[in-house]
Amino acid sequence: MGKSTDFNRTLVTAALPYANGPVHIGHLAGCYLPSDIYVRYLRSTGSDVKFVCGSDEHGVPITIKAKNEGVTPQEVVDKYHELMRDTFKEFGISFDIYSRTSSELHHKTAAEFFKKLYDKGSFEEQITEQYFDESANQFLADRYIVGTCPKCRNENAYGDQCESCGISLNPTDLINPKSKLSGQPPVLRKTKNWFLPLDKLQPDIQTYINKHSDWKTNVFGQCKSWLESGDGLQPRAMTRDLNWGVKVPLKDAEGKVLYVWFDAPIGYISATKELLPNDWEKYWKQKDSRLIHFIGKDNIVFHCIIFPAMLMQHGEFILPDNVPANEFLNLEHDKLSTSRNWAVWLHEYLNDFKDKQDVLRYVLCANAPESRDNDFTWKDFQARNNSELLAIFGNFVNRTLVLTHKFFDGKVPEVSEYTKEDLSTLEEISKFPEKISHSLEEFRFREALAELMNLARLGNKYLADNEPWKLIKTNEIRVKAIINISLQITTNLAILCEPFLPFTSVRIFSFLKIQPLNWMHAKRTDNLTSGHTIGKEELLFEPIEDEAILFQTEKLAATKKTNVSINKSLMIQKPETSFDDFGKMDIRVATILEAEKVPKTDKLLKLKIDTGIDVRTIVSGIATWYKSEEIIGRKIVMLANLAPRKIKGIESQGMILMAENPDGELSFVSPEKMSALNGAIVK
Ligand code: 2FM
Ligand code: ZN
Repeated sequence: MGKSTDFNRTLVTAALPYANGPVHIGHLAGCYLPSDIYVRYLRSTGSDVKFVCGSDEHGVPITIKAKNEGVTPQEVVDKYHELMRDTFKEFGISFDIYSRTSSELHHKTAAEFFKKLYDKGSFEEQITEQYFDESANQFLADRYIVGTCPKCRNENAYGDQCESCGISLNPTDLINPKSKLSGQPPVLRKTKNWFLPLDKLQPDIQTYINKHSDWKTNVFGQCKSWLESGDGLQPRAMTRDLNWGVKVPLKDAEGKVLYVWFDAPIGYISATKELLPNDWEKYWKQKDSRLIHFIGKDNIVFHCIIFPAMLMQHGEFILPDNVPANEFLNLEHDKLSTSRNWAVWLHEYLNDFKDKQDVLRYVLCANAPESRDNDFTWKDFQARNNSELLAIFGNFVNRTLVLTHKFFDGKVPEVSEYTKEDLSTLEEISKFPEKISHSLEEFRFREALAELMNLARLGNKYLADNEPWKLIKTNEIRVKAIINISLQITTNLAILCEPFLPFTSVRIFSFLKIQPLNWMHAKRTDNLTSGHTIGKEELLFEPIEDEAILFQTEKLAATKKTNVSINKSLMIQKPETSFDDFGKMDIRVATILEAEKVPKTDKLLKLKIDTGIDVRTIVSGIATWYKSEEIIGRKIVMLANLAPRKIKGIESQGMILMAENPDGELSFVSPEKMSALNGAIVK
C-alpha cells in the first residue's frame, strides 16, 4: 500500500453528497469523518494535503425532491447546500473547500471534459428506446417510472429497482409502467445518447484494479465482481434526456444533460480549481501526487471503475491511488432512511447535545463500519461517553491538571531524577505516534483510535501505580517527576487526539496554555518545559444521563410507530372504484344537535344529527378524541344512506366521516364555509 510519505502531495476527496436533505450520522460515519481524520493527521505531520468536497446538485434525486416540495431544483440545492456546508463545519469536518456542482466553473469544467472525450472518439453513439411521457412532453429517468415488480409484484417498484425485494430493474421490466409525472402509461421513444464503451475499456481497467489488490477487501472484492461476473462491463450512457444538469456540449444534443455520475466526480476537479486557480494541476496531473477518494460502499463502482475509465480516456490526469470505502451504518438495528425519518440528524443532535461534537465523532469512529455494516445505538453512545471518553481520557487529563494546581500552584515541576519505571514509561509514550500513524496510513481508524485510548490508559495506570497523592507527604521530589511525566502524556494526548477529537484537542492546549503542537512533537516527552504555568482546567467530558438517552430512544420509537402505521394504512391505495359506485353514496352536510356518552363504553358517543332532511341518531366512536359538550353545534359531513346498524342496542342511522391519522387519532371532516346548509350534498 502506498504511504503518504511516498508522495509529495495528497489530494483527498470526500463523496459529494446530493444536496437534497440534511446530513445524518450515516453520512458522517461513511466518509466525512474518516476523511477528516486522515486529512487532519496528514496536516499534523506537515504533509502537503488538500481536502475537497461540495454538493452534488444534479441528478434525479434533486428533481424529485423539487417536484415533491413544489419548488425549482435550484431552490432545493440552494437550501440544502448551505445547510450541509454549515453542518459539516460545525462537526469540524475541515474541508479546504466545500464547493457545488451548479457553479459555472463546474459546468464549464465538466462540459470541457466531455468534449475532450467526444473529440477523441471515446464515446459510442447509440439510439435506444426510452420511456417518454407524452403529456409532460419529456423522457423519463428511471426513478420517474413506477410499476409492478416482475419478481415480487410490489406495485410501487421504480424503473431501476424494486425497494421491496431489492432486485435491480430496467424500466422496461416493469409491468404496467406509469409516469410519476402524469400518472399515465409512458410510451417508448427513440433517442440518441453517448455511451462510454466500458466493455472495450475493460482490459485497461482490469490492469489498473489488479495493481491495487492492497485496497480494502470490501472495495477490491466489489471491483473484481463487477469485472468478472456475467459478461463483464457493459457500455454505459454518459448523457441523459433531462433538463437539469450540465448541458451536453454538442450541437445535436438539445434537451440532454451529462449523466450525473459523469459530472459529479469531475466536481472534485472543479473544486480543486476553485480552491487553487493557479496550482490545481499539480494535484491532478503530477505523478508525485496522490489522489484518494473517501466514499460509501454504494459509490464503489463509480469511483473505482467509471471515473478511472474517464480519466484514462482523458489522458492528462493521475488515477485514484486508493478508494477507502466504508460499509453502511445502521441505527438501532435498522437501515438508516431519510424517507422513513430513521436517522439521527446532525442539526438535531447539536440541539440535544450542545458542544458534544467530539462525543459523536468518537462514537462513530470507535464503531465505524470499516469492514462490515455496523450499528449505532444510543445505549452504546452513552456507554462510550461515560466509560471511555469520560472515565479514561477525561479522567486522566483532569486528574493531572488538578494535581498540578494542588501540589505545584499550576507550575510544571522540574524532574531531578527518573526511576527505571519512569524511563520505560517515557519510552513507551514515545512509540504512540508511530503506532497511530501506522493504523491511519492503512485507513484503520478504529484501531488508531483504540491506540489513542491506550495512551490515556497508560497515563491512568501510571498515576494509579505511583499514587502521587500519597507520596506528596513524604517524597515531593518523586511527585515532581510523576506529575511532570503525566503532564507530558497530557500534552501528547492533545496532539494525537486532534484528528479524532479536534475540539477537545484545542481545549487541552488551552488548559496547558501552549500553542498547538504537531505530530512530530508527540515522539518527544519534554514538550512542556519546567516552570511553565498552566491554566485552569475544566471538565473535558460530562456524563450523559439516562434521561437524555431515553429522550432519543423514545423519539425513535415514535418514528417507528408512525412508520408502521403509515405503511399499513396510508401507503396502500384502495382498488379503483367507479364514478357510479361513488355516486351511490349519499354524503351530506349535517349539524350535531346533541351528544352524550353511551353508558359503559369508553369510545362511543350517541349523537342527534340534523341532516337537513330529518333528525336522526348516529353512534360514533369518537369519545377518545372529542368531549360531548365540545361538539354540539358543529357542522360535519356524514354518510346518510349507510344501512342502519345496532350498536350497543342503539340503532345508528348513518356514519360521521372522520379523518384517521396513522396513530388512530380522529378528526372531523367539516365543510369549510358555514354557509354550507344541512343536507347539502357532498360530491
Ligand atoms: O451517493 C451520493 O450521494 C452521490 N452524490 C455521490 C457522488 S460522489 C462524486 F462522484 F461526486
Ligand atoms: Zn420486487
